[in-house]
Amino acid sequence: MKLSAFGEKFAGKSGIVELMEDLGEALHSNPDAIFMGGGNPSRLMDVEALFQQRLEALMQDPKQRHSLFGIYQSPQGDIDFREQVATFLKTEYGWNLTARNIAVSNGSQSAFFVIYNMFAGQMADGSQRTIHLPLTPEYLGYADVGLCENFFSGTRPSIDILEDHIFKYRVDFSELHPDETVGAMCVSRPTNPSGNVLTDDELAHLDDIARERGIPLIVDGAYGLPFPNICFVEATPLWNDNIILALSLSKLGLPGVRTGIIIANEEIIDAYTNANTIVSLACGNLGPAIAREWFRSGEILELTARHVTPFYRERSQQTVDWFRAAMGDLPFHIHKPEGAIFLWLWFEGLPITSEELYERLKARGVLVAPGQDFFIGIDGEDWPHRDECIRVSYAQDAEKVQAGVKIIAEEVARAYAGS
Ligand SMILES: Cc1ncc(COP(=O)(O)O)c(C=O)c1O
Repeated sequence: MKLSAFGEKFAGKSGIVELMEDLGEALHSNPDAIFMGGGNPSRLMDVEALFQQRLEALMQDPKQRHSLFGIYQSPQGDIDFREQVATFLKTEYGWNLTARNIAVSNGSQSAFFVIYNMFAGQMADGSQRTIHLPLTPEYLGYADVGLCENFFSGTRPSIDILEDHIFKYRVDFSELHPDETVGAMCVSRPTNPSGNVLTDDELAHLDDIARERGIPLIVDGAYGLPFPNICFVEATPLWNDNIILALSLSKLGLPGVRTGIIIANEEIIDAYTNANTIVSLACGNLGPAIAREWFRSGEILELTARHVTPFYRERSQQTVDWFRAAMGDLPFHIHKPEGAIFLWLWFEGLPITSEELYERLKARGVLVAPGQDFFIGIDGEDWPHRDECIRVSYAQDAEKVQAGVKIIAEEVARAYAGS
């Protein structure tokens, strides 16, 4: 088949496609494997029961049932839902929003495709711009969304070594000077893969830099603020008319319903909606139908504070403890777990690459995400750290996570021992 440049780039192999294929194949060939590689949230039965209640209530009401199944909502998303989200955010955080500042997407991933390509790539005047990642490693799912090559630029973080095998990335503002070739900056907060949460000061500083440059700051809140609030440190949600905040219902426990929520100034929302109409026509109704009541009542905050945040906080701490016990004196570092659903491990001076470690672990039935592909925008730089990290999800059943930790420690010990 003869493919266009678009076809060649998107229908071919890419980092994320290969990783997902690998995971799918492992699931098929070894269903007992320990899956610590993907981004599935934990199954929280109390939250699932709430989803069930909402669905049953919808099914009982013929009007709502028809609206769920039988109607294309506006491409921007159901107006009632957008009003409820806007009112909730305005009441809680004082953000100056109406329904015109909100758009619904089929998962936030598809919104990233549209928004990134709206601001970066080949510009109307023929020049080229990038999406700049001020703190990379960043979310692997961004890596391949650009319509052209060299779509990202990035800034290497500084590293604070803390106590007890913990380290933390910080934005290195001394190196962050986005010039006219940057079309927008983007951060995930909490960050996938590292579990870092940018401080309020760091975010405010990024916001200032973006404003000064006249470019938007995109904040990916898939794990965070204000919901699903998988965040274990004090941090304030931030939005203003220069910020595009991308939220999602996925990590609340609804990745299957594919609902993203985009909050931005009206000009950006209108532009996004036009593009999304071409790509998607309309968005799925299920996520908004399930979640609507929780925004209307403000219950979404209580729900996450009671069921979601404490679960992941405890599990992250538990997994760190398991790693400390299993790794003993090995030279390992764990990124300070401040949020999200992963631990990011750094094996300084590891004699094999993280890719090789990943292969060895896979052979032992443990799937992790090797780190090198997360260093988006700085992949050309010579930095050994890039090949010394792995991302480990702790969202699976506790026994599986614990068993996985033990095998990871064994393989890391073997690698350091040179065998
Ligand atoms: C940081 C981050 N952003 C965005 C997404 C996309 O999520 P969804 O398309 O399910 O909303 C993910 C999924 O894992 C993620 O980890």
